[in-house]
Amino acid sequence: MSTFKAPKGTYDLIPPFSAQYLAVREAISAPLRKAGYGYVETPGFEDVELFARGVGESTDIVTKEMFTLTTKGGANLALRPEGTASVLRAALEANLHKAGGLPVKLWYSGSYYRYERPQKGRYRHFSQVGAEAIGAEDPALDAELIILADQAYRSLGLRNFRILLNSLGDKECRPVYREALQGFLRGLDLDEETLRRAEINPLRVLDDKRPDVQKQLVDAPLLRDHLCEACKAYHEEVRSLITAAGVAFEDDLKLVRGLDYYTRTTFEFVHDGLGSQSAVGGGGRYDGLSEMIGGPALPSVGWALGVDRTVLALEAEGVELDIPPVTEVYAVPLGDEAKRVLFGIVTQLRTADIAADFSYGGKGMKAAMKGANRSGARLALIAGDRDLADGVVQLKDMESGEQTAVALEGLVETVRAKLA
Ligand code: HAM
Repeated sequence: MSTFKAPKGTYDLIPPFSAQYLAVREAISAPLRKAGYGYVETPGFEDVELFARGVGESTDIVTKEMFTLTTKGGANLALRPEGTASVLRAALEANLHKAGGLPVKLWYSGSYYRYERPQKGRYRHFSQVGAEAIGAEDPALDAELIILADQAYRSLGLRNFRILLNSLGDKECRPVYREALQGFLRGLDLDEETLRRAEINPLRVLDDKRPDVQKQLVDAPLLRDHLCEACKAYHEEVRSLITAAGVAFEDDLKLVRGLDYYTRTTFEFVHDGLGSQSAVGGGGRYDGLSEMIGGPALPSVGWALGVDRTVLALEAEGVELDIPPVTEVYAVPLGDEAKRVLFGIVTQLRTADIAADFSYGGKGMKAAMKGANRSGARLALIAGDRDLADGVVQLKDMESGEQTAVALEGLVETVRAKLA
């Protein structure tokens, strides 16, 4: 072991476990790619102001959880704590919203960083796959995204997740509700920090997990009762489209999210096998974010699913992903001449798109065959000096154990026929 360890709150992805992460990223992104979302990749850091303005000055993410740094040139940057602000910034910068039709549909996959108190399911470095549909106000778009996430989770074999749905209203009705809620909260027996939060961001208080706070919130005014007609109609349409698609959800009238940019539709995917870090994914509509970061009005909606928590959810449900071994052929040379010949053959196999690996380090037969077993290859090619003199190699079927001499001449085609 080296003197160094992965930093606190982080962990490494190591084979064979790491294959699950790739499979989860693939499964989450597949439905998006098929639904017209294009891949976008942005830098791992941005101007700190982008997140301050986008995610919100009063959120935990901005006040406590950002990894910030000042460059030698004096720029104030932050490792990205989330993807939405960056993706919208990139779309605006590239004028994607002017290029063709709206919405601009984008998906992404990458690392995110939050300085949080680490625990199971909560890390300082984690990974998300996300989707953003920029520039259209259409309940069908909100529904599409929720349905695609549901499909992604089902394709992985996840079953015990729930979709929580709410509407946070818009710039017409939310301020009215905000005031009503503030009035209610001022009358409660709350600690000073919570009272302060009630003044800055009262909706966040609804999200307080402490039982003594929750008990006092039972009679809190609900946004549902303050939604304007337009928001009500919009939300009803989202609900009925999801229902028609056969996707089950629960109305959660107290669902608020940890980011300030949301308007109207908000949702969370929660998994019941994960303890306190139960949110495997979340998202919603953010109709005002573009203007908040200096762009034109571009009503948008999106989500991000956490890869780490999705893998934990699969574990909790005992779902084993079917990840077939990659290597098809494993070459075992016995002697220097055989090494040169088989190494050449491995290259030929790879050029012919057959997944091949090689026993390195001049191992003896027994150790080399262990490597062949571990690789999961279906075929092994074994050759010593005598085989080469005869113009053959031994082809071993790793499952049946059957071994036959096959000609070096035309070997790639022989192997391909065997694998077929
Ligand atoms: P979020 O709810 O902050 O939303 O994060 C989405 C998911 O990322 C969470 O549900 C969780 O699975 C995962 N996640 C967040 N923080 C951590 C952590 N510290 N450790 C492990 N996993 C974590 C967003 O980030 C929004 N940008 C989603 C969105 C996209 N809204 C609209 N478009």
